[in-house]
Amino acid sequence: MKLELRNITKKFGNFAANEDISLTVDPGEIIALLGENGAGKSTLMNVVYGLLQPTSGEIYVNDERAQFDGPGEAIAAGIGMVHQHFMLIPPFTVAENVMLGNEHTKGIFLDLETARTEVRRVSEAYNLHVDPDALVEDLPVGVQQRVEIIKALVRDAGVLILDEPTAVLTPQETDELLAIMRDLRAKGTSIVFITHKLREVRAAADRIVVIRRGRVVGEATPDATQSELAGMMVGREVSLTVEKPPADPGEPVLTVKELSAADLEGRPILRDLNFDVRAGEILGIAGVQGNGQTELAEVLTGLFEGEVTGSIALDGRELTGLTPRKILDTGLGYVPEDREHDGLIGSFTVTENLVLDQVVNPPYSSGMVLRKAT
Ligand SMILES: Nc1ncnc2c1ncn2[C@@H]1O[C@H](COP(=O)(O)OP(=O)(O)OP(=O)(O)O)[C@@H](O)[C@H]1O
Ligand SMILES: [Mg+2]
Repeated sequence: MKLELRNITKKFGNFAANEDISLTVDPGEIIALLGENGAGKSTLMNVVYGLLQPTSGEIYVNDERAQFDGPGEAIAAGIGMVHQHFMLIPPFTVAENVMLGNEHTKGIFLDLETARTEVRRVSEAYNLHVDPDALVEDLPVGVQQRVEIIKALVRDAGVLILDEPTAVLTPQETDELLAIMRDLRAKGTSIVFITHKLREVRAAADRIVVIRRGRVVGEATPDATQSELAGMMVGREVSLTVEKPPADPGEPVLTVKELSAADLEGRPILRDLNFDVRAGEILGIAGVQGNGQTELAEVLTGLFEGEVTGSIALDGRELTGLTPRKILDTGLGYVPEDREHDGLIGSFTVTENLVLDQVVNPPYSSGMVLRKAT
C-alpha cells in the first residue's frame, strides 16, 4: 500500500507540533521516522491514524485522497498502528483482545473460535508466535507487542505504524521485532517505524526521514553514520563519546548486605545481594528485564510483597521491615520504572502529583486538609 502525506500541519493552539510535513511511503517499504523527544512524531502518526485532525494538509492512500474522522476509518482504509503505550486489556486473552472493536458474533454470543482461527492464521503467516488463549497480563512485553501487531494485521493493515516499538524491549526482543518487520516487508506491508535509536534505524529502515521541531529536516539512507543521523536529529554536531571526570565518592550511604527476597509463592527473586552506594556516586544496575531489578527497587522502597531477608541500611538506619512511607521519610527518593502506572496519577494536576508522597507531612497539609497554596 502507498501512503502519502502532503503538507500536513497540526497546531495545538498557536503551537505547531507538525509543520508542512510531506512524506511518501511506498508499498513494501520501511520508513524510519527519526526525531528527538517532542519532535512531533506521534502527533504526525496520530493524524494519519485518524486520532487527530490535521489543521491543514492532505493524506493520500494509493493515490486517492483520504480523510479519517476516527481510527475506525483509518483501519478500514488499511492503516494499522501500534501505539507507544500498549492499548491491550490485560485480563483478556489474546484472541479476545484481537477481536476487540471488531467483534464477530454467533447469535448473541461472541464468536471466539473465529477470533482464535484468525490469530493462528496471522501468526503462522508472519511468524508471530503467540497462543490465542493466553492471558495478555501473563505475557512478556515483547509478546504483547506481537499481539498488537497481529491485531493490526487481522484487520488487513497494508501500512503498519509502529510508534517507538523498541522502547520497552530487550535487545533480543528488539532483534526479533526487526526480523518480523523484514518479514512483513517481504510480504508487501509498508511500515513506518518511529524511533530515536540510531542502531535500529540503520538496521531496519530502507529510508530515514528526520524530523525536528515539527518539520522534516532531511532524509538519509541506512548507510548514514550514527553521528550524521544524530546531528540531523538535534541540529548540531554531536559527540557520541562521553567524556567525564572521574567521580570522587565519599563514605557509603546505602549499604545492602546479604539481601534475599522470595515472592508470595516462595520463588527466589533476589539471592544474596551485597553492595554499597557511596555519597556522590551513581551506581548502575544492568540486566535484562525479569532478572530481579524491578523487585530490587521494590524491596529497597518497602513495596515488595513477599519475604525479604538481609539488611538495607541508609545512613546507618535499618530500612527492612519499615513501611514505604517511613522509608521515604528517611530520605530515599523513588522514580518508578513504569511512571504511568506507579508514579503519577494522570487525572491529577502537576502540583498534586508533586506532593503525592508527602501529603501527610507539613507544610503540605495541616490536620486533614491539603494546603494547595504551599
Ligand atoms: N494534545 C496536545 N496538546 C498540546 N500539545 C501537544 C499535544 N500533543 C502533543 N503536543 C506537543 O507537541 C509536540 C510533539 O509531541 P509528540 O508527542 O508528537 O512528540 P514525539 O516526537 O512523539 O516525542 P516522543 O519521542 O517523546 O514520543 C510536543 O511538544 C508536545 O508537547
Ligand atoms: Mg511519541
